Amino acid sequence: MKILVVGGGGREHAIIKKLKEDARAEKIFALPGNGGIAADAVCLGGSATDILAAVAAAKRYAVDFVVVAPDDPLALGMVDELEAEGFACFGPRKNAAVIESSKAFSKDLMKKYGIPTAAYEIFTELDKALAYVDACPLPVVVKADGLALGKGVLICETREAAREAVRSMMEDRLFGDSGATVVIEEFLTGPEVSVLSFTDGETVVPMVSCMDHKRALDGDQGLNTGGMGTIAPNPCYTSEIAAECMEKIFLPTIRAMKAEGRPFKGCLYFGLMLTAEGPKVIEYNCRFGDPETQVALPLLESSLLEIMLAVSKGTLAEAEVKFSEKSACCVILASKGYPEKYEKGFPITLPAAGRDESIYIAGAVEKDGKLLTSGGRVLGAAAVAENLPAAVERAYALADRIHFDNACCRRDIGRRAMKALEEKK
Ligand code: AMP
Ligand code: GLY
Repeated sequence: MKILVVGGGGREHAIIKKLKEDARAEKIFALPGNGGIAADAVCLGGSATDILAAVAAAKRYAVDFVVVAPDDPLALGMVDELEAEGFACFGPRKNAAVIESSKAFSKDLMKKYGIPTAAYEIFTELDKALAYVDACPLPVVVKADGLALGKGVLICETREAAREAVRSMMEDRLFGDSGATVVIEEFLTGPEVSVLSFTDGETVVPMVSCMDHKRALDGDQGLNTGGMGTIAPNPCYTSEIAAECMEKIFLPTIRAMKAEGRPFKGCLYFGLMLTAEGPKVIEYNCRFGDPETQVALPLLESSLLEIMLAVSKGTLAEAEVKFSEKSACCVILASKGYPEKYEKGFPITLPAAGRDESIYIAGAVEKDGKLLTSGGRVLGAAAVAENLPAAVERAYALADRIHFDNACCRRDIGRRAMKALEEKK
């Protein structure tokens, strides 16, 4: 089979490497791909949001299957266009991708169908939003309605900060039109868990649970980033909690989307907080998480291609989806200064990855046969081992064999999870 994967980050590299384990994946194209993905797929360049280019590439290379990985082309309706041209796809249509691209939509969906989430109000008028934050309990969470590269969420401890957050989104349009509508919600506390799932609109099969590390610096300090590292499984997510999530969150969400005439096919990501009152949804993403994918897929023992084809055909209930009992860790090596200003263009020295180790390239270009840094998050060093401490140790040992100027990483990926494991004993 010929497969086109849309996207060009570490997540897509992990998807492509996993797809290649199935002998039927004879050729993989990536749009745009990146300098590192080029070792595993034919990279077409261009932009992941270019729907015309994706349709043209699918036709030109006569691909049998398309995987659309990032949120923005999904929100723009890339799957709808590809399907209209007769291509089988993995990924939700535009009317289902809205579960991520509009927080107002997803909050109203959860309210309507009784899915546990933080209490909230939606505002489209500045004055009303300001009046609300003048009286609501603190801290309070202010969110831009639309996509904002993971940055449209502000946790405000004071009224002053909440007013400033509302103004920055609604008046100054810090996140453009994404902030025309804001969601203001109750502040929740508890461990966070990311659960990615496969769903064909009827059946939902959760993957191994993950823990992301979103802040830039050790000890969960510093700015929010796209994710500085992940571990799986997440020790806070017990089998009892998993059963509760299936009954109260996963199945109700899939049924709700179907009932709304927006059947969701693809990977639905549940961002959960395990509160004292039980698990609640913090956010939905309409796609694989990055860098959650870099730990979930290495633990997948079944064929990703087979599962994706089943999702697309609506036969997921018959597919085998089996995860290993082992643990995985992925450490992100970033460019110093990320998520703010950073320099790029430094050569990367990659060691050979051993068994159960993978290097997933996120931000690199190839120039004259050399791999050069080109992004904030440059790559992920991932390892699988018998248990979490061993996976963390191996991932760091791999990361420490990779070199480029201005490389930086958190040194405490997995530490909180290992503490939770100790406490469980
Ligand atoms: P989101 O972009 O919705 O994933 O939000 C980014 C991060 O903000 C989440 O991973 C949480 O750590 C935090 N967050 C979002 N909503 C809430 C909430 N209602 N209460 C506490 N923290 C939140
Ligand atoms: N790692 C969080 C996300 O992919 O949204």
